[in-house]
Amino acid sequence: MTVNDFAEMKRSGRRISMITCYDYWSAQIIDQSTVDCILVGDSVAMIIHGYENTIPATVEMMALHVSAVSRGAPNKFIVADMPFLSVRKGLKHAMDSVETLMRAGAQAVKIEGVSGHEEIIHHIVESGVPVMGHLGLTPQSVHQFGGYPVQGRKEDEVTALKAEAKQLQELGCFSIVLECVKSDTARTLTRSLQIPTIGIGAGPDTDGQILVLHDMLDLFKNVDPRFVRHYVRGHQLVLDSLNHFDSDVKEGSFPSAEESYL
Ligand code: KIV
Repeated sequence: MTVNDFAEMKRSGRRISMITCYDYWSAQIIDQSTVDCILVGDSVAMIIHGYENTIPATVEMMALHVSAVSRGAPNKFIVADMPFLSVRKGLKHAMDSVETLMRAGAQAVKIEGVSGHEEIIHHIVESGVPVMGHLGLTPQSVHQFGGYPVQGRKEDEVTALKAEAKQLQELGCFSIVLECVKSDTARTLTRSLQIPTIGIGAGPDTDGQILVLHDMLDLFKNVDPRFVRHYVRGHQLVLDSLNHFDSDVKEGSFPSAEESYL
């Protein structure tokens, strides 16, 4: 997949599948799958590093994970998140951050919001770096939202989202993530744009869907947002395997003769 395929998939009505990935081993599995593309999201701060939100993610943290993912999934289109405040400290800081992520192996960057960093988005696009927008619930603004509320319920929110989506399209973004947006608002936005929307908690009518890999695999007990579908009970599977290993060791059945150098 290349950046051009996003527009082509929207034109032909083929839905886009995207999954988060942060490390080499899972990137290798995703590379063998039919999933279209990868996001190295700043959710890495929560999922891999155990922070409460995405604010602790830094460009250095992102670059380390992007480089591991790019070695594991050389055949997938990889988008890297621009972390907290990286587009709010002036053009030079933003471009240095983009350079670091692209040199680490990303093929595009994702930027939350638009207001106040329109020129930076335009400059990144003009510099030959594809930009994915991100509207709706933008987790880097968690403290301004006061949590993670669903967006696009009120009339003024819908009007603002429409204007922002149009603006991102005009700035040259190749697609837009819509996070936690009321389904009919996401549908309206999707229909109003030439570039594809990729939804997470935004209902069935976006042009594509993204999930956090670890949510999809149910690796965290008690994390169960309404929009996640669990494809395997990963937490239980790993726990059972560990307990099985432990009991094999303790009863002396591991390793067997076949598992030993005789
Ligand atoms: O960081 C992330 O995982 C994301 C997705 C939730 C879209 O931005």
